Amino acid sequence: MSSNIYFDLHSSKADRYTAIMPQITALVSAETDKIANMANISAVLKEVFQFWWVGFYLVKSEELVLGPFQGPLACTRIAKGKGVCGTAWLQEKHIIVPNVDEFPGHIACSSASKSEIVIPIINDGKVIAVLDVDSEHLEHFDAIDAQYLSEIAQLISKD
Ligand code: SME
Repeated sequence: MSSNIYFDLHSSKADRYTAIMPQITALVSAETDKIANMANISAVLKEVFQFWWVGFYLVKSEELVLGPFQGPLACTRIAKGKGVCGTAWLQEKHIIVPNVDEFPGHIACSSASKSEIVIPIINDGKVIAVLDVDSEHLEHFDAIDAQYLSEIAQLISKD
């Protein structure tokens, strides 16, 4: 499989997601190891969107523990209900935060992060991980991100 992703630098957000979905689907269907797939998905999203931080936290012993990611170092453990990640886990639904300073309890791993989206990854009715994406721009994420990142979360949730 080619490691290069070609896309028009001026293409829209939706066009970019549309372009990478077949590659991500192929990656995930060719490999059963979730960590390996999370690592490659982080790399693809970082390369195509230049997100500030993109990665996964895995549910382990009733805590979120840092998994594969791309970007600056991040906090390693998040309790259920804490921060955006822990809240998305608790509520079992995605959360878009237009301005992290206005989210009560936001956990600032990096002061450069201004907006965020977190998508829970649900397997057999249980959250097994979350996909977290941070931007250094305010109001960066919208329903298009939620739609495609949720599709990615669904792909990776399968056994
Ligand atoms: N901001 C997240 C913590 C994880 S970092 O952004 C990578 C939160 O509030 O849960």
